[in-house]
Amino acid sequence: MNKKIGILVSGRGSNLQAIIDKITNGFLPLQISVVISDMPDAYALTRAEKAGIKTATINRKEYADKLSFENKINETLGNVDGIVLAGFMRILSESFIKKWEHKIINIHPALLPSFTGMHAQKQANDYGVKIAGCTVHFVDAGTDTGPIILQKVVPAFFEDTEDELAARILEEEHKALPEALKLWAEDKLEIIGRKVRIKK
Ligand code: GRF
Repeated sequence: MNKKIGILVSGRGSNLQAIIDKITNGFLPLQISVVISDMPDAYALTRAEKAGIKTATINRKEYADKLSFENKINETLGNVDGIVLAGFMRILSESFIKKWEHKIINIHPALLPSFTGMHAQKQANDYGVKIAGCTVHFVDAGTDTGPIILQKVVPAFFEDTEDELAARILEEEHKALPEALKLWAEDKLEIIGRKVRIKK
């Protein structure tokens, strides 16, 4: 039986779309139980609805504190096998991450450990790197510090605007996330310390 995932989003949802498309075309043996957004107007919700996937909006502003907000997320996720952060713009608490230890996967638009946190593509562009890329990793208690599953690289050019570099990286994100999720779905990932072994 395919593993069930919950996907947390905050925005346009192009990575969510990549997952949906790869499930639809048979590449990815996963079932999306629910897409949860913390932003009521996230376009990701429309994408999920169009694909017939259950959605929920859990607006942080409507919760007194982080604990009650995350409790609602847990309740809404139900008994999924894993969680994918696909452009989810909030930092999860240590207790939430502990509950889902080694079961949360994030996509970050930089070659970690460089350029963690917000505006990673701008950070890379401002720094003047010649290669940039994206990282799919398990989430640990730090920000963008967990065990790396896979990375993809793109060239970065002097003439690049932040948006041009971001668009080049995004194309690779749409390949990297489904590929990493396929490995996870097929039980091919083994976390050893902070390293991930990909089984043959
Ligand atoms: C992506 O660049 C992702 O790496 C970052 O947030 C962005 C989300 O984009 N975490 P989208 O909502 O998937 O289009």
